[in-house]
Amino acid sequence: MIRLKHVVLGAVGLPIVILLGAWVGFFNVGASSGHWKVTAWFLQLAMRSAVRTYALAVDAPKTLDSRGLPAAAGHFARGCAICHGEPGEPRSPAVMRMLPQPPDLALTVGDWTDAQLFRIVKHGIRFTGMPAWPARDRDDEVWAMVAFLRELPKLDANGFRDLALGGSQPTAPAALADCTRCHGGDGGGRGDLVPALAGQKEAYLLASLQAYARGDRTSGFMALPVTGVDPADLAALARHFAAQPSVSADSDQVPAEVIGRGQQIAEDGIPERNVPACSGCHIGSDKNPLYPRLDGQHAAYLERQLKLFRSESRGGTRFWRIMATAAQRLTDDDIRAVSAFFSKRSAGPQ
Ligand code: HEC
Ligand code: HEC
Ligand code: HEC
Repeated sequence: MIRLKHVVLGAVGLPIVILLGAWVGFFNVGASSGHWKVTAWFLQLAMRSAVRTYALAVDAPKTLDSRGLPAAAGHFARGCAICHGEPGEPRSPAVMRMLPQPPDLALTVGDWTDAQLFRIVKHGIRFTGMPAWPARDRDDEVWAMVAFLRELPKLDANGFRDLALGGSQPTAPAALADCTRCHGGDGGGRGDLVPALAGQKEAYLLASLQAYARGDRTSGFMALPVTGVDPADLAALARHFAAQPSVSADSDQVPAEVIGRGQQIAEDGIPERNVPACSGCHIGSDKNPLYPRLDGQHAAYLERQLKLFRSESRGGTRFWRIMATAAQRLTDDDIRAVSAFFSKRSAGPQ
Protein backbone atom coordinates (compact mmCIF):
# COMPACT_ATOMS: atom_id res chain seq x y z
CA MET A 1 0.00 0.00 0.00
CA ILE A 2 1.24 3.45 -0.88
CA ARG A 3 0.66 5.71 2.07
CA LEU A 4 0.90 9.46 2.39
CA LYS A 5 4.11 8.86 4.32
CA HIS A 6 5.70 7.26 1.21
CA VAL A 7 4.55 10.09 -1.04
CA VAL A 8 6.02 12.65 1.33
CA LEU A 9 9.25 10.67 1.65
CA GLY A 10 9.45 10.44 -2.15
CA ALA A 11 8.74 14.12 -2.63
CA VAL A 12 11.44 15.07 -0.17
CA GLY A 13 13.85 12.26 -1.06
CA LEU A 14 13.97 12.51 -4.87
CA PRO A 15 15.34 16.07 -5.03
CA ILE A 16 17.91 15.11 -2.41
CA VAL A 17 19.00 12.09 -4.47
CA ILE A 18 19.26 14.27 -7.62
CA LEU A 19 21.18 16.95 -5.72
CA LEU A 20 23.47 14.30 -4.27
CA GLY A 21 23.99 12.85 -7.77
CA ALA A 22 24.97 16.29 -9.09
CA TRP A 23 27.25 16.90 -6.09
CA VAL A 24 29.00 13.53 -6.41
CA GLY A 25 29.47 14.24 -10.14
CA PHE A 26 27.17 11.49 -11.45
CA PHE A 27 25.81 13.53 -14.37
CA ASN A 28 28.18 13.52 -17.32
CA VAL A 29 28.54 17.10 -18.58
CA GLY A 30 31.03 16.01 -21.28
CA ALA A 31 29.82 16.68 -24.84
CA SER A 32 31.73 13.70 -26.31
CA SER A 33 29.17 10.94 -25.90
CA GLY A 34 25.99 12.81 -26.83
CA HIS A 35 22.76 12.91 -24.82
CA TRP A 36 20.76 9.89 -23.86
CA LYS A 37 18.04 9.50 -26.50
CA VAL A 38 15.36 10.43 -23.99
CA THR A 39 17.24 13.58 -22.90
CA ALA A 40 17.78 14.66 -26.51
CA TRP A 41 14.12 14.07 -27.27
CA PHE A 42 13.02 16.00 -24.20
CA LEU A 43 15.30 18.98 -24.88
CA GLN A 44 14.14 19.23 -28.51
CA LEU A 45 10.50 18.99 -27.41
CA ALA A 46 10.98 21.70 -24.79
CA MET A 47 12.82 23.98 -27.24
CA ARG A 48 10.32 23.57 -30.07
CA SER A 49 7.29 23.97 -27.81
CA ALA A 50 8.71 27.08 -26.15
CA VAL A 51 9.46 28.67 -29.53
CA ARG A 52 5.97 27.82 -30.78
CA THR A 53 4.26 29.26 -27.68
CA TYR A 54 6.31 32.45 -27.39
CA ALA A 55 6.00 33.10 -31.13
CA LEU A 56 2.23 33.47 -30.71
CA ALA A 57 2.89 36.90 -29.26
CA VAL A 58 4.98 37.96 -32.26
CA ASP A 59 3.25 40.21 -34.77
CA ALA A 60 4.70 39.15 -38.12
CA PRO A 61 4.49 41.49 -41.13
CA LYS A 62 2.54 40.19 -44.14
CA THR A 63 5.58 40.42 -46.43
CA LEU A 64 9.22 40.54 -45.42
CA ASP A 65 11.19 43.64 -46.41
CA SER A 66 14.11 42.69 -48.67
CA ARG A 67 16.08 45.93 -48.28
CA GLY A 68 17.98 44.65 -45.26
CA LEU A 69 19.21 41.54 -47.05
CA PRO A 70 22.83 42.63 -47.76
CA ALA A 71 23.44 43.73 -44.17
CA ALA A 72 21.78 40.63 -42.80
CA ALA A 73 23.87 38.47 -45.14
CA GLY A 74 27.04 40.32 -44.09
CA HIS A 75 26.17 39.80 -40.45
CA PHE A 76 25.40 36.15 -41.14
CA ALA A 77 28.89 35.71 -42.64
CA ARG A 78 30.57 37.13 -39.53
CA GLY A 79 28.19 36.20 -36.73
CA CYS A 80 26.30 33.04 -37.67
CA ALA A 81 28.32 31.14 -40.29
CA ILE A 82 30.95 30.24 -37.71
CA CYS A 83 28.37 27.84 -36.22
CA HIS A 84 25.82 27.24 -38.97
CA GLY A 85 28.09 27.23 -42.04
CA GLU A 86 27.27 29.19 -45.18
CA PRO A 87 26.72 28.37 -48.87
CA GLY A 88 29.99 26.90 -50.20
CA GLU A 89 31.53 26.64 -46.71
CA PRO A 90 30.16 23.77 -44.66
CA ARG A 91 30.20 23.71 -40.89
CA SER A 92 33.64 23.00 -39.42
CA PRO A 93 34.35 19.63 -37.78
CA ALA A 94 34.81 21.41 -34.42
CA VAL A 95 31.28 22.79 -34.61
CA MET A 96 29.89 19.41 -35.66
CA ARG A 97 30.97 18.16 -32.23
CA MET A 98 28.94 20.80 -30.36
CA LEU A 99 26.01 19.53 -28.31
CA PRO A 100 23.45 20.30 -29.58
CA GLN A 101 24.86 20.67 -33.06
CA PRO A 102 24.03 23.96 -34.81
CA PRO A 103 21.93 22.86 -37.80
CA ASP A 104 22.62 23.72 -41.46
CA LEU A 105 19.95 26.41 -41.63
CA ALA A 106 19.45 26.08 -45.39
CA LEU A 107 17.91 22.69 -44.60
CA THR A 108 15.88 23.60 -41.51
CA VAL A 109 14.40 27.11 -41.96
CA GLY A 110 11.46 25.59 -43.82
CA ASP A 111 10.36 23.95 -40.54
CA TRP A 112 9.65 27.29 -38.92
CA THR A 113 7.19 30.16 -39.49
CA ASP A 114 8.47 33.73 -39.82
CA ALA A 115 7.28 34.52 -36.29
CA GLN A 116 9.10 31.49 -34.89
CA LEU A 117 12.34 32.38 -36.68
CA PHE A 118 11.99 35.91 -35.30
CA ARG A 119 11.62 34.53 -31.80
CA ILE A 120 14.71 32.30 -32.14
CA VAL A 121 16.94 34.95 -33.72
CA LYS A 122 15.89 37.66 -31.28
CA HIS A 123 16.18 35.68 -28.07
CA GLY A 124 18.59 32.88 -28.89
CA ILE A 125 18.23 29.44 -27.27
CA ARG A 126 19.42 28.92 -23.74
CA PHE A 127 22.06 26.23 -22.94
CA THR A 128 22.87 25.62 -26.62
CA GLY A 129 25.34 28.33 -27.61
CA MET A 130 22.71 29.93 -29.90
CA PRO A 131 23.09 33.63 -28.98
CA ALA A 132 20.39 36.31 -28.68
CA TRP A 133 20.42 39.22 -31.13
CA PRO A 134 23.18 41.58 -29.94
CA ALA A 135 20.96 44.70 -29.89
CA ARG A 136 17.84 44.38 -27.73
CA ASP A 137 15.35 46.71 -29.35
CA ARG A 138 16.25 46.37 -33.02
CA ASP A 139 13.37 44.23 -34.16
CA ASP A 140 13.90 45.69 -37.65
CA GLU A 141 17.29 44.03 -37.83
CA VAL A 142 15.89 40.76 -36.58
CA TRP A 143 13.22 40.89 -39.31
CA ALA A 144 15.94 41.58 -41.88
CA MET A 145 17.70 38.45 -40.66
CA VAL A 146 14.49 36.45 -40.94
CA ALA A 147 14.11 37.71 -44.52
CA PHE A 148 17.68 36.62 -45.21
CA LEU A 149 17.09 33.16 -43.68
CA ARG A 150 14.17 32.74 -46.11
CA GLU A 151 16.58 33.51 -49.02
CA LEU A 152 19.35 31.27 -47.69
CA PRO A 153 18.19 27.93 -49.18
CA LYS A 154 18.15 29.52 -52.65
CA LEU A 155 21.72 30.86 -52.51
CA ASP A 156 24.85 29.18 -53.89
CA ALA A 157 28.38 30.19 -52.87
CA ASN A 158 28.64 33.00 -55.42
CA GLY A 159 25.17 34.33 -54.74
CA PHE A 160 25.92 34.40 -51.04
CA ARG A 161 29.26 36.15 -51.53
CA ASP A 162 27.66 38.75 -53.79
CA LEU A 163 25.08 39.46 -51.17
CA ALA A 164 27.29 39.33 -48.09
CA LEU A 165 30.55 40.76 -49.38
CA GLY A 166 29.56 42.77 -52.42
CA GLY A 167 31.15 40.22 -54.76
CA SER A 168 34.69 40.46 -53.32
CA GLN A 169 36.41 37.09 -52.96
CA PRO A 170 38.54 37.29 -49.86
CA THR A 171 39.10 33.56 -49.30
CA ALA A 172 42.38 33.04 -51.17
CA PRO A 173 44.55 35.60 -49.36
CA ALA A 174 42.72 35.04 -46.07
CA ALA A 175 43.29 31.29 -46.34
CA LEU A 176 46.96 31.74 -47.18
CA ALA A 177 47.45 33.93 -44.11
CA ASP A 178 45.85 31.12 -42.12
CA CYS A 179 48.28 28.54 -43.55
CA THR A 180 51.38 30.61 -42.88
CA ARG A 181 50.47 30.86 -39.19
CA CYS A 182 51.63 27.26 -38.91
CA HIS A 183 53.58 26.55 -42.10
CA GLY A 184 55.57 29.82 -42.07
CA GLY A 185 55.79 32.56 -44.70
CA ASP A 186 58.66 30.64 -46.33
CA GLY A 187 56.69 27.36 -46.27
CA GLY A 188 59.35 25.82 -44.01
CA GLY A 189 56.98 24.63 -41.28
CA ARG A 190 57.05 26.31 -37.88
CA GLY A 191 58.09 23.72 -35.31
CA ASP A 192 59.36 20.22 -36.00
CA LEU A 193 55.94 18.58 -36.32
CA VAL A 194 54.58 20.99 -38.92
CA PRO A 195 55.76 19.80 -42.33
CA ALA A 196 57.75 21.97 -44.70
CA LEU A 197 55.63 22.54 -47.83
CA ALA A 198 58.09 24.67 -49.80
CA GLY A 199 59.23 22.84 -52.94
CA GLN A 200 56.99 19.83 -52.26
CA LYS A 201 55.33 18.33 -55.37
CA GLU A 202 52.22 20.29 -56.27
CA ALA A 203 50.08 17.25 -57.08
CA TYR A 204 50.95 15.68 -53.72
CA LEU A 205 50.13 18.89 -51.83
CA LEU A 206 46.76 19.20 -53.53
CA ALA A 207 45.91 15.51 -53.06
CA SER A 208 46.82 15.80 -49.37
CA LEU A 209 44.64 18.90 -48.90
CA GLN A 210 41.75 17.07 -50.54
CA ALA A 211 42.38 14.07 -48.32
CA TYR A 212 42.16 16.26 -45.21
CA ALA A 213 39.01 17.91 -46.54
CA ARG A 214 37.36 14.52 -47.18
CA GLY A 215 38.52 13.19 -43.83
CA ASP A 216 40.63 10.44 -45.45
CA ARG A 217 43.66 11.84 -43.66
CA THR A 218 42.82 12.92 -40.15
CA SER A 219 44.37 15.85 -38.30
CA GLY A 220 42.53 18.29 -36.08
CA PHE A 221 45.08 20.96 -37.00
CA MET A 222 44.48 20.58 -40.74
CA ALA A 223 40.75 19.84 -40.72
CA LEU A 224 39.85 23.36 -39.62
CA PRO A 225 41.93 25.28 -42.18
CA VAL A 226 40.92 23.12 -45.17
CA THR A 227 37.21 23.00 -44.52
CA GLY A 228 37.06 26.79 -44.57
CA VAL A 229 38.60 26.97 -48.06
CA ASP A 230 36.83 26.86 -51.41
CA PRO A 231 37.94 23.70 -53.28
CA ALA A 232 39.20 25.89 -56.14
CA ASP A 233 41.45 27.78 -53.73
CA LEU A 234 43.09 24.56 -52.51
CA ALA A 235 44.70 24.19 -55.94
CA ALA A 236 46.02 27.76 -55.75
CA LEU A 237 47.45 27.11 -52.29
CA ALA A 238 49.16 23.90 -53.45
CA ARG A 239 50.66 25.79 -56.43
CA HIS A 240 51.84 28.59 -54.14
CA PHE A 241 53.71 26.33 -51.72
CA ALA A 242 55.12 24.02 -54.41
CA ALA A 243 56.68 27.05 -56.15
CA GLN A 244 58.51 28.28 -53.04
CA PRO A 245 62.24 27.47 -52.85
CA SER A 246 62.95 24.47 -50.60
CA VAL A 247 64.37 25.14 -47.16
CA SER A 248 66.44 22.69 -45.17
CA ALA A 249 64.53 22.20 -42.00
CA ASP A 250 66.66 20.78 -39.21
CA SER A 251 70.03 21.60 -37.72
CA ASP A 252 70.13 19.00 -34.89
CA GLN A 253 73.25 16.91 -34.59
CA VAL A 254 72.69 13.24 -35.35
CA PRO A 255 75.50 10.64 -34.97
CA ALA A 256 77.03 9.68 -38.31
CA GLU A 257 76.32 5.97 -37.84
CA VAL A 258 72.58 6.69 -37.44
CA ILE A 259 72.56 8.64 -40.69
CA GLY A 260 74.59 5.87 -42.35
CA ARG A 261 72.04 3.26 -41.27
CA GLY A 262 69.27 5.51 -42.58
CA GLN A 263 71.00 5.87 -45.94
CA GLN A 264 71.31 2.09 -46.19
CA ILE A 265 67.56 1.63 -45.59
CA ALA A 266 66.71 4.43 -48.02
CA GLU A 267 68.89 3.06 -50.81
CA ASP A 268 68.69 -0.72 -50.33
CA GLY A 269 65.67 -1.27 -48.12
CA ILE A 270 65.88 -4.12 -45.59
CA PRO A 271 65.72 -7.23 -47.81
CA GLU A 272 65.42 -9.78 -44.97
CA ARG A 273 62.24 -8.03 -43.76
CA ASN A 274 60.89 -7.23 -47.23
CA VAL A 275 61.26 -3.48 -46.72
CA PRO A 276 61.54 -1.86 -50.16
CA ALA A 277 64.18 0.77 -50.90
CA CYS A 278 62.61 4.15 -50.19
CA SER A 279 64.64 5.73 -52.96
CA GLY A 280 62.58 3.79 -55.53
CA CYS A 281 59.72 6.16 -54.88
CA HIS A 282 61.09 9.10 -52.91
CA ILE A 283 64.33 10.07 -54.67
CA GLY A 284 64.53 11.43 -58.21
CA SER A 285 62.27 13.81 -60.10
CA ASP A 286 60.84 11.28 -62.55
CA LYS A 287 58.68 9.55 -59.96
CA ASN A 288 54.89 9.57 -59.64
CA PRO A 289 53.84 13.15 -58.77
CA LEU A 290 51.84 11.76 -55.86
CA TYR A 291 54.99 10.35 -54.19
CA PRO A 292 56.16 13.12 -51.87
CA ARG A 293 59.69 14.45 -51.59
CA LEU A 294 61.22 13.79 -48.18
CA ASP A 295 64.54 15.65 -48.54
CA GLY A 296 65.03 18.43 -46.04
CA GLN A 297 61.75 17.60 -44.29
CA HIS A 298 61.72 17.85 -40.47
CA ALA A 299 62.96 14.55 -39.03
CA ALA A 300 60.44 14.62 -36.19
CA TYR A 301 57.59 15.08 -38.68
CA LEU A 302 58.82 12.16 -40.85
CA GLU A 303 59.10 9.93 -37.77
CA ARG A 304 55.62 10.86 -36.65
CA GLN A 305 54.13 10.10 -40.09
CA LEU A 306 55.90 6.73 -40.32
CA LYS A 307 54.54 5.75 -36.91
CA LEU A 308 51.06 6.86 -37.95
CA PHE A 309 51.36 4.75 -41.12
CA ARG A 310 52.56 1.83 -39.03
CA SER A 311 49.48 1.95 -36.78
CA GLU A 312 47.24 2.61 -39.83
CA SER A 313 46.19 5.99 -38.41
CA ARG A 314 47.48 7.90 -41.43
CA GLY A 315 45.43 7.85 -44.60
CA GLY A 316 46.05 10.24 -47.47
CA THR A 317 46.09 9.91 -51.23
CA ARG A 318 44.90 6.72 -52.91
CA PHE A 319 48.41 5.33 -52.42
CA TRP A 320 48.63 5.48 -48.65
CA ARG A 321 48.46 1.68 -48.23
CA ILE A 322 51.86 1.29 -49.88
CA MET A 323 53.33 3.21 -46.99
CA ALA A 324 51.34 1.45 -44.29
CA THR A 325 52.74 -1.89 -45.50
CA ALA A 326 56.31 -0.59 -45.67
CA ALA A 327 56.13 1.11 -42.25
CA GLN A 328 54.78 -1.99 -40.51
CA ARG A 329 58.11 -3.68 -41.17
CA LEU A 330 60.20 -0.90 -39.61
CA THR A 331 61.39 -0.76 -35.97
CA ASP A 332 61.56 2.50 -34.01
CA ASP A 333 65.33 2.60 -34.60
CA ASP A 334 64.89 2.15 -38.36
CA ILE A 335 62.36 4.97 -38.38
CA ARG A 336 64.65 7.29 -36.50
CA ALA A 337 67.60 6.52 -38.76
CA VAL A 338 65.80 6.84 -42.09
CA SER A 339 64.02 10.04 -41.00
CA ALA A 340 67.33 11.60 -39.93
CA PHE A 341 68.86 10.61 -43.26
CA PHE A 342 66.13 12.23 -45.37
CA SER A 343 65.95 15.38 -43.27
CA LYS A 344 69.70 15.90 -43.80
CA ARG A 345 69.58 15.28 -47.53
CA SER A 346 69.93 18.47 -49.51
CA ALA A 347 66.53 19.94 -50.20
CA GLY A 348 67.72 21.50 -53.44
CA PRO A 349 66.00 20.96 -56.80
CA GLN A 350 65.74 17.30 -57.78
C1 HEC B 1 27.94 29.70 -31.11
C2 HEC B 1 27.18 29.02 -32.11
C3 HEC B 1 25.98 29.71 -32.75
C4 HEC B 1 25.94 30.95 -33.34
C5 HEC B 1 27.06 31.98 -33.44
C6 HEC B 1 24.63 31.07 -33.89
N1 HEC B 1 23.89 29.95 -33.64
FE1 HEC B 1 21.98 29.57 -34.27
N2 HEC B 1 21.99 27.81 -33.27
C7 HEC B 1 23.07 27.28 -32.59
C8 HEC B 1 22.69 25.98 -32.04
C9 HEC B 1 23.59 25.07 -31.22
C10 HEC B 1 21.36 25.75 -32.43
C11 HEC B 1 20.53 24.49 -32.15
C12 HEC B 1 19.71 24.65 -30.89
C13 HEC B 1 18.86 23.42 -30.61
O1 HEC B 1 18.76 22.51 -31.45
O2 HEC B 1 18.29 23.39 -29.52
C14 HEC B 1 20.95 26.92 -33.20
C15 HEC B 1 19.70 27.07 -33.76
C16 HEC B 1 19.34 28.11 -34.61
C17 HEC B 1 18.07 28.20 -35.29
C18 HEC B 1 16.95 27.17 -35.19
C19 HEC B 1 17.16 26.21 -36.33
C20 HEC B 1 16.60 24.83 -36.14
O3 HEC B 1 16.11 24.31 -37.14
O4 HEC B 1 16.68 24.28 -35.04
C21 HEC B 1 18.10 29.36 -36.04
C22 HEC B 1 17.01 29.88 -36.96
C23 HEC B 1 19.39 29.97 -35.80
N3 HEC B 1 20.11 29.19 -34.93
C24 HEC B 1 19.81 31.15 -36.41
C25 HEC B 1 21.01 31.79 -36.13
C26 HEC B 1 21.37 33.08 -36.65
C27 HEC B 1 20.56 33.91 -37.61
C28 HEC B 1 22.60 33.37 -36.12
C29 HEC B 1 23.44 34.63 -36.29
C30 HEC B 1 22.77 35.86 -35.92
C31 HEC B 1 22.99 32.26 -35.28
N4 HEC B 1 22.00 31.32 -35.31
C32 HEC B 1 24.19 32.19 -34.59
C33 HEC B 1 24.31 27.85 -32.45
C34 HEC B 1 24.69 29.09 -32.93
C1 HEC C 1 47.07 25.08 -36.87
C2 HEC C 1 48.25 24.81 -37.66
C3 HEC C 1 48.09 24.59 -39.16
C4 HEC C 1 47.43 25.39 -40.06
C5 HEC C 1 46.65 26.67 -39.79
C6 HEC C 1 47.64 24.77 -41.34
N1 HEC C 1 48.39 23.63 -41.22
FE1 HEC C 1 48.85 22.35 -42.72
N2 HEC C 1 49.66 21.06 -41.35
C7 HEC C 1 49.75 21.29 -40.00
C8 HEC C 1 50.20 20.07 -39.35
C9 HEC C 1 50.44 19.89 -37.85
C10 HEC C 1 50.36 19.09 -40.36
C11 HEC C 1 50.70 17.62 -40.20
C12 HEC C 1 49.37 16.92 -39.93
C13 HEC C 1 49.40 15.41 -40.00
O1 HEC C 1 49.93 14.79 -39.10
O2 HEC C 1 48.79 14.85 -40.95
C14 HEC C 1 50.00 19.77 -41.61
C15 HEC C 1 50.04 19.14 -42.86
C16 HEC C 1 49.81 19.78 -44.06
C17 HEC C 1 49.98 19.18 -45.37
C18 HEC C 1 50.48 17.78 -45.66
C19 HEC C 1 51.95 17.88 -45.97
C20 HEC C 1 52.64 16.56 -46.17
O3 HEC C 1 53.86 16.59 -46.35
O4 HEC C 1 51.98 15.53 -46.18
C21 HEC C 1 49.64 20.15 -46.29
C22 HEC C 1 49.65 20.00 -47.80
C23 HEC C 1 49.25 21.33 -45.55
N3 HEC C 1 49.37 21.08 -44.21
C24 HEC C 1 48.85 22.53 -46.14
C25 HEC C 1 48.23 23.55 -45.43
C26 HEC C 1 47.53 24.67 -46.05
C27 HEC C 1 47.43 24.92 -47.54
C28 HEC C 1 47.02 25.42 -45.04
C29 HEC C 1 46.12 26.65 -45.14
C30 HEC C 1 44.86 26.43 -45.82
C31 HEC C 1 47.42 24.79 -43.79
N4 HEC C 1 48.15 23.67 -44.07
C32 HEC C 1 47.12 25.28 -42.54
C33 HEC C 1 49.45 22.47 -39.35
C34 HEC C 1 48.69 23.49 -39.90
C1 HEC D 1 56.21 2.15 -53.83
C2 HEC D 1 56.45 3.53 -53.50
C3 HEC D 1 56.95 3.88 -52.11
C4 HEC D 1 57.99 3.31 -51.41
C5 HEC D 1 58.89 2.15 -51.83
C6 HEC D 1 58.12 4.07 -50.19
N1 HEC D 1 57.19 5.05 -50.15
FE1 HEC D 1 56.95 6.46 -48.71
N2 HEC D 1 55.33 7.22 -49.65
C7 HEC D 1 54.80 6.72 -50.83
C8 HEC D 1 53.56 7.41 -51.11
C9 HEC D 1 52.66 7.17 -52.30
C10 HEC D 1 53.36 8.33 -50.07
C11 HEC D 1 52.19 9.30 -49.91
C12 HEC D 1 51.11 8.60 -49.13
C13 HEC D 1 49.89 9.49 -48.99
O1 HEC D 1 49.96 10.53 -48.32
O2 HEC D 1 48.86 9.09 -49.53
C14 HEC D 1 54.50 8.19 -49.18
C15 HEC D 1 54.66 8.95 -48.03
C16 HEC D 1 55.74 8.83 -47.18
C17 HEC D 1 55.96 9.64 -46.02
C18 HEC D 1 55.07 10.80 -45.54
C19 HEC D 1 55.59 12.08 -46.16
C20 HEC D 1 54.80 13.32 -45.78
O3 HEC D 1 55.16 14.40 -46.26
O4 HEC D 1 53.83 13.21 -45.03
C21 HEC D 1 57.09 9.20 -45.43
C22 HEC D 1 57.74 9.73 -44.17
C23 HEC D 1 57.60 8.11 -46.23
N3 HEC D 1 56.75 7.90 -47.29
C24 HEC D 1 58.76 7.40 -45.95
C25 HEC D 1 59.16 6.28 -46.65
C26 HEC D 1 60.28 5.45 -46.25
C27 HEC D 1 61.14 5.71 -45.04
C28 HEC D 1 60.36 4.46 -47.16
C29 HEC D 1 61.37 3.34 -47.19
C30 HEC D 1 61.39 2.46 -46.04
C31 HEC D 1 59.30 4.65 -48.13
N4 HEC D 1 58.61 5.76 -47.78
C32 HEC D 1 59.06 3.82 -49.21
C33 HEC D 1 55.35 5.77 -51.63
C34 HEC D 1 56.43 4.96 -51.30
